[in-house]
Amino acid sequence: MSSSAEASAATSGESQFVVVANRLPVDRVTNPDGSEGWTRSPGGLVSALAPVMRKQDGSWVGWVGSPDEAPEPFHSDGMDLVAVALSAQEIQDFYEGFSNATLWPLYHDVIVPAEFHREWWDSYVQVNRRFASAAAEVAAEGAIVWVQDYQLQLVPMQLREMRPDLRIGFFLHIPFPPKELFAQLPWRRQIIEGLLGADLVGFQREGAVGNFLDIAAKYTSARPISSNQVAVDGRRVTAGAFPISLEVEEIERLVDDESVQARAQSIREELGSPARVLLGVDRLDYTKGIRHRLKAWSELLADGDVTPQDAVFVQVATPSRERVDAYAALRDEIELEVGHINGEYGTIGSPPIHYLHSTYDRRELVAMFMAADVAVVTPLRDGMNLVAKEYVAARVDNRGTVVLSEFAGAADHLTGSVLVNPHDIDGLKAALLEALHMPEREQERRMRAMRAEVKDHDVAWWADTFVTCLRDECQ
Ligand code: ADP
Ligand code: G6P
Repeated sequence: MSSSAEASAATSGESQFVVVANRLPVDRVTNPDGSEGWTRSPGGLVSALAPVMRKQDGSWVGWVGSPDEAPEPFHSDGMDLVAVALSAQEIQDFYEGFSNATLWPLYHDVIVPAEFHREWWDSYVQVNRRFASAAAEVAAEGAIVWVQDYQLQLVPMQLREMRPDLRIGFFLHIPFPPKELFAQLPWRRQIIEGLLGADLVGFQREGAVGNFLDIAAKYTSARPISSNQVAVDGRRVTAGAFPISLEVEEIERLVDDESVQARAQSIREELGSPARVLLGVDRLDYTKGIRHRLKAWSELLADGDVTPQDAVFVQVATPSRERVDAYAALRDEIELEVGHINGEYGTIGSPPIHYLHSTYDRRELVAMFMAADVAVVTPLRDGMNLVAKEYVAARVDNRGTVVLSEFAGAADHLTGSVLVNPHDIDGLKAALLEALHMPEREQERRMRAMRAEVKDHDVAWWADTFVTCLRDECQ
């Protein structure tokens, strides 16, 4: 990621293709020397969409990640970026509040309780309208506008009211809950009406499409006209599943790079050249099942099924949403547990777990994937999970295994992984041992099949399928 952003000509009203997402693909950061710069934003949405946008001539509308900042439209990392400002109060109410303490837990099976506050909702409505106005300003006549994720579910209808000439798509990167959970939301009708402003509403999995259509029929005036379409105010709205993926070539290029290969080698050496390396890479989020995998790892050590000389666990945890209470509490719990495991089972120079609370660049992440024998991906609920697909993309040597939660969207695609229910700690322990001891030929057989799947259905395929469907009404 380039550290500076060049100013570019205003894009107002000229973009034929506009992405609207809460975050821009770059975050404003202050470097250690006090200078200002940009860094890649966290999460799967940015990982997937950035390569799509670099190849498109279009604009990305979003927030720079800090309060009250909205630089003039600028160009960074091959993309035209249009900033929307959020005040400190809006960050609390719209972003940390309604988006991440109401919708995020509600849409992820209420792993922690969802909070409902009317002032958060008011802020959500207001901020969504600001994003809709910004998109309305940059979009050319008849342009395609593609709205992203749970933070902006009202934008499709708000934008349609401002600009009926546009073709509007919406994609939800996270799960969409069943009626029984969604019904708790005091603003359930307004959210669905917001989404119904789109011509095409996309989800990661078929189950989510069914949930959405059921809920739309129950709480709004939308009437089914086919198995995946409803009529709303004389318009047709289509819903469909479009499983997201990643840019495989970007990862393969890094795997090919000699300095990345050397880094993978030195990671192994720095870890003390253990027989096996297990790796978890996640945003530090309670949906990711990090506590469950640590519990399983701790019990395997306690039972003597593994020793720190046999295998080490590397857990990379990207800082995320740190001012939301449930995230701060999770960090404390995880760090306590890591300390407990290392204190109990480690020896000098051989901690059984390495915990890295940091963000890394793509080269370092790919080197970690190359150095790891087992990727441990155990979310309790996850729209897709790109880390699992990234690990597979990085294993051009057809080695390595994936322990994958059946509650991640990726489980539909990576059928050669060792599938687990992360709530079942005994099952998780057995899966980790199976992965650690899987014969090389079996690893190769499974990895080949998973690599073929990820290469056939990469992020370009995802974006093309969605946009073609949006353009042509997906008949
Ligand atoms: P989510 O979108 O919920 O964060 P995903 O697994 O779909 O989950 O996407 C996470 C993305 O963030 C992946 O592209 C992954 O490589 C990236 N990522 C995760 N942890 C880190 C980290 N510590 N440093 C840099 N990138 C990270
Ligand atoms: C997930 C969400 C994205 C979000 C990302 C990072 O991938 O689906 O919408 O941007 O997490 O979360 P953050 O709150 O830091 O934007």
